Amino acid sequence: MSETTTSSSSSRASTTIPSTPNMETTPTVEDAPNGMSRDEFRQYGKETVDYIVDYLENIQKRRVVPAIEPGYLKDLIPSEAPNAPESFESVMEDFEKLIMPGITHWQHPRFHAYFPAGNSFPSIIADMLSDAIGCVGFSWAACPAMTELELIMLDWFGKMIGLPAEFLPLTENGKGGGVIQSSASECNFVTLLAARFEVMKELRQRFPFVEEGLLLSKLIAYCSKEAHSSVEKACMIGMVKLRILETDSKFRLRGETLRNAIQEDRNLGLIPFFVSTTLGTTSCCSFDVLSEIGPICKDNELWLHVDAAYSGSAFICPEFRPLMNGIEYAMSFNTNPNKWLLINFDCSTMWVRDRFKLTQALVVDPLYLQHSWMDKSIDYRHWGIPLSRRFRSLKLWFVIRMYGIDGLQKYIREHVRLAKKMEQLLRADPKFEIVNEVIMGLVCFRMKGDDELNQTLLTRLNASGRIHMVPASLGDRFVIRFCVCAENATDKDIEVAYEIISQATQHVLHDSVKAAIAEEDEEAVALEEMVADLNIQETTVDNKGITRQASADGPRHLERQLSKEEILAQKQHESLAKKRYSVPVPVVATGEPDAEPCCSPTILVSS
Ligand SMILES: Cc1ncc(COP(=O)(O)O)c(C=O)c1O
Repeated sequence: MSETTTSSSSSRASTTIPSTPNMETTPTVEDAPNGMSRDEFRQYGKETVDYIVDYLENIQKRRVVPAIEPGYLKDLIPSEAPNAPESFESVMEDFEKLIMPGITHWQHPRFHAYFPAGNSFPSIIADMLSDAIGCVGFSWAACPAMTELELIMLDWFGKMIGLPAEFLPLTENGKGGGVIQSSASECNFVTLLAARFEVMKELRQRFPFVEEGLLLSKLIAYCSKEAHSSVEKACMIGMVKLRILETDSKFRLRGETLRNAIQEDRNLGLIPFFVSTTLGTTSCCSFDVLSEIGPICKDNELWLHVDAAYSGSAFICPEFRPLMNGIEYAMSFNTNPNKWLLINFDCSTMWVRDRFKLTQALVVDPLYLQHSWMDKSIDYRHWGIPLSRRFRSLKLWFVIRMYGIDGLQKYIREHVRLAKKMEQLLRADPKFEIVNEVIMGLVCFRMKGDDELNQTLLTRLNASGRIHMVPASLGDRFVIRFCVCAENATDKDIEVAYEIISQATQHVLHDSVKAAIAEEDEEAVALEEMVADLNIQETTVDNKGITRQASADGPRHLERQLSKEEILAQKQHESLAKKRYSVPVPVVATGEPDAEPCCSPTILVSS
């Protein structure tokens, strides 16, 4: 294999890229006249890499969120596609002019919304190669390397996060396996389908004469109030009941709650079959107590699924693994390296203890997809919903190799350290309270005051374009989520973010005091008029010679004989105090186990 050397302007002086072996002696097809020629691609490709580096290097100069409104693009882009080819330059010009102003910059150092959107140079390069190879690897035969690397990466990564050997694809004589899906939502859905298939198989044997639809209508799944909405969606599509359980004071699902729910539902003639737990919930990164839930699932023969979409990557650091104690009871587990492991979307890894229990629910085998290696290989088309699959394991391979486990652990630990720094800054400031237990990279906080003030604060922060965060509801209170997202976030970034939040909070407080005073001014005018009226009344009464006395249903302050100034001052004070410290009345979503379904016909919310 010959080798060519390409020069590079980066600090890594030069990179040696092996050239492809020359399998043909005659030149291949001519460059296409339209689209882009190979030479143009060489040039523009390099320019695009430069553009990407410049973009990421200068990203902090842009607003985090765009200052546009829905529909902004429709008026800027022609209503019909062009007939004639356009140049790369003109497309790129429009990209910068029209598209960039509508971008939310997830890689911006002040982006603290949702969860990190994994991104790194090795991952981008791997995706470029995957795009270039352009394979659609639904079966081993459709692209052997794609299937084989996926197997190996799921084995590597499974070991890296400390999954039990039964889950790992390459454990000798093991039944376990791993697969990359495109999203955690998909993982939640296919595991539910697998669990449903398994229980229905058993029920059909036990009750051969009972209508399948009737059996299905008896199935019930469980998750906590803090589980991701995709669990609800999975049950909705899967047409099974879901009971949403209360959490403890740390927003964790506990064993006792599950045990009671199962018992109650069995008494009602329902058939519990699936529990979806979360390690690192979306709202506040809480951790369901698997060590309590696991044995209950085992005793009741329920499929235990563990959704660790965000925080699962952190288990590459051994110090976080106690949070997954009880994983040995799980039937399936998923985490998204495309969230917190520097892998670009999409890459959602999922493992099952028994691969046959997953594939039996998903196998459909037309002749045109069969091949001669089927008995010796696995075909990932049986592990998920889509047939076509991208070469997603390539970016895992590139990132794991180029950062090493050490580098990835450092990255995770640094994010956790920075989140704790933010927690400390906010805790030290009497304007704020912390609402979650900060374990990973997420801090949930609120300014002291009511929900409305916190909403105003978040709206103000996001509208400023200087920082981006999203809210969550915790214990029915409005909280602001601050997630450490940027790969190379620094102490300075945290300090700047805290300053922006603190200043905006002061403004919100100031505005609310001003608004209260303005309101008070209006009230004061009305009050003065009222007092003036009463004075006139009193005078009139006096003039008539009747005893001077405030009526029983008249203003009580007259009875107390406060001066008008005192009354105004007192009212103003009360109103301000109310505005500053009022706590919203919590709306508690509870219901009896047999309560009417809420939200969707299959959803039950219970304590
Ligand atoms: C715990 C959890 N599960 C599932 C999801 C959905 O992830 P995806 O966008 O990959 O479907 C999220 C998203 O934040 C999540 O936090």
